[in-house]
Amino acid sequence: MEKLKMETKDLIRENIEKLAEMFPDVITETRDEKGNLIKAVDFELLKQELSGRVVEGDGERYQLTWPGKKEAMLLTNLPTNRTLRPAKEESMDWEKTGNIYIEGDNLEALIILQESYLNKIKLIYIDPPYNTGKDFIYKDNFKQSREEYLTGSGQVDGDGNRLFQNTESNGRFHSDWLSMIYPRLKLARNLLREDGVIFISIDDNEVHNLRKICDEVFGERNIVGQITVQSNPRGSQASKYMADVHEYLLIYSKNINSFTIIGHIKDKNILSEYSYTYKDGRKFRLLGLRQRGGAWRREHRPNMYFPIYVNPQTGKVSLEKNNEFTVEVLPKRPSGEESRWTWSKKKVLENRELLVGRKVNREGLEDFWDVFRIDFLEDEDGKMKTSKVKTMWIDKEINYQNGRTEIKELFDGLDIFDFPKPTYLVKKILSTLEDSGLILDFFAGSATTAHAVMQLNAEDGGNRKYIMVQLPEPCPKDSEAYRTGLKNISEIGKERIRRAAKKIKEETGTDIDYGFRVFKVDSSNMKDVYYRPDELLQQNLFRMIDNIKEDRTAEDLLIQVMLEWGLELSLPMEKKNIFNKEVHFVAGNSLAACFDEGVSEELVREIAREKPLRAVFRDSSFAGDAARINVEELFKMLSPTTEIKVI
Ligand SMILES: C[S@@+](CC[C@H](N)C(=O)[O-])C[C@H]1O[C@@H](n2cnc3c(N)ncnc32)[C@H](O)[C@@H]1O
Repeated sequence: MEKLKMETKDLIRENIEKLAEMFPDVITETRDEKGNLIKAVDFELLKQELSGRVVEGDGERYQLTWPGKKEAMLLTNLPTNRTLRPAKEESMDWEKTGNIYIEGDNLEALIILQESYLNKIKLIYIDPPYNTGKDFIYKDNFKQSREEYLTGSGQVDGDGNRLFQNTESNGRFHSDWLSMIYPRLKLARNLLREDGVIFISIDDNEVHNLRKICDEVFGERNIVGQITVQSNPRGSQASKYMADVHEYLLIYSKNINSFTIIGHIKDKNILSEYSYTYKDGRKFRLLGLRQRGGAWRREHRPNMYFPIYVNPQTGKVSLEKNNEFTVEVLPKRPSGEESRWTWSKKKVLENRELLVGRKVNREGLEDFWDVFRIDFLEDEDGKMKTSKVKTMWIDKEINYQNGRTEIKELFDGLDIFDFPKPTYLVKKILSTLEDSGLILDFFAGSATTAHAVMQLNAEDGGNRKYIMVQLPEPCPKDSEAYRTGLKNISEIGKERIRRAAKKIKEETGTDIDYGFRVFKVDSSNMKDVYYRPDELLQQNLFRMIDNIKEDRTAEDLLIQVMLEWGLELSLPMEKKNIFNKEVHFVAGNSLAACFDEGVSEELVREIAREKPLRAVFRDSSFAGDAARINVEELFKMLSPTTEIKVI
């Protein structure tokens, strides 16, 4: 029974807990007056979280810090006028699919997705650059170090942005990597559902820093585990001193109290232990009732030391000795030391039919009686029970060579991508959760995650959907990928999805979602005057010039509006022709949009009759203030709950 505390609530502690939920990174450790470690708030970090500029200050506290951390933090809170533009011609099954492929820098993509995917993602898997000295390139977007960067050897991405390699000779080797990963993790956390989780592949180069930074971003209490993955059983001869055989997966939940992890299907060795068949046909094995692991002594749980009586003919058990139950069994080790049962007397009484007494013979020991419990392979609904996910993954399919082989098989024997992960690894990650929900990978590379999502959905009938984000990082001119016409890594990713979809469809014949909608990170659809009208001398002038860039389509505008209104990119979109104008409807009546010029009163009436939740028009399509007010009046009359906006 819980004891009354007989004191008032510790409000400070409660407040700190509330802050920790919102900003896990501002929670740190300090000592109270008695020298005990307690949680405290790092007010400098909190100030930084609430400010749009770098806040100076340098107190002594427990945290991982590096030059550029505050600038990196700032990046996550800055608004952007970048947007996503649809690329229908590169998409597959645009109308029906729930999958998304985003081409562009993931920092920008994550910022753009904040409204539409806030608290929506079930699982994030990322395999970021490990910072090996060769693999990490980044965009020149940290102002402070621009000059330093400019001395580096620049490459250029599809948009003409300069990309730089992070080599060990760079004095800010670890700092640059941390400044790259930190804002991305912070933004990614916002997208996770309360019961969501992130799996991050990493190796010894940065695992120590990543763990610290994840403790900060996700909160130390939200760590689920750190798995050692045997990716190279033969050992890498390229390693400096010792042959690396493994890498890691770091796993953090958004909120450990809401998160549940499903165990993995038991491995073959364990399955073979289920050799008995119960009267209802279920397979079972026998497990000793005596406590085996820690806290096994009688004095650890004195109540769990009691005799159980066995009927030597039937093996049935009882807590009472009588003519039928004659053999007394006590929880003792073969050595004679007093131990304890794993079940209480009450549990034994209630579940007697699940216990069995057996005579055991062990080499070198006299025969003795022991009590076992029945452990079924399946639960009563016939669902296979699972084992807890292990902290070491050694399956042979996880070998990194398998990733290469899979790609080669898809691309007619060509080696078009260095170090893709095996789909088996990603499937194993995905199967720790239920079989639906949104999966995000914002370092998509060759799109192994998309491949694994499709493959697993085809195998287990699941309904997972994915969002991939990948920079159009150029492929070297002498690479096999470039020679086959795949000029950058996004091209590789999209082509892989198309080929994997075809293969899975052919091999399994299943009718799952093989499509994907492609979007590209680009500059806003609006001209600069849209964001800085005050820079124009006369307000009237603003009205007269068009504020939308000439090369942008109605669909471009629709997507930017959807993102601002927090609508998901996979929603069904329909285009209707009403009074000779193009009207777009998103998810039925969630949004109605008309970006044509010269919107008439009868058209507005028609749209309002559909009672959309939101409606948007082009500001310049109204003749003047009177026309604008008229539209509002019409909506007030016909659909008063519609939220109306103009661009
Ligand atoms: C280690 S690879 C991921 C490989 C992937 N797991 C696979 O199986 O193919 C990391 C990828 O992240 C991409 N990347 C690096 N920085 C990026 C950024 N800022 N935005 C988007 N992608 C980025 C790189 O181009 C590279 O393809």
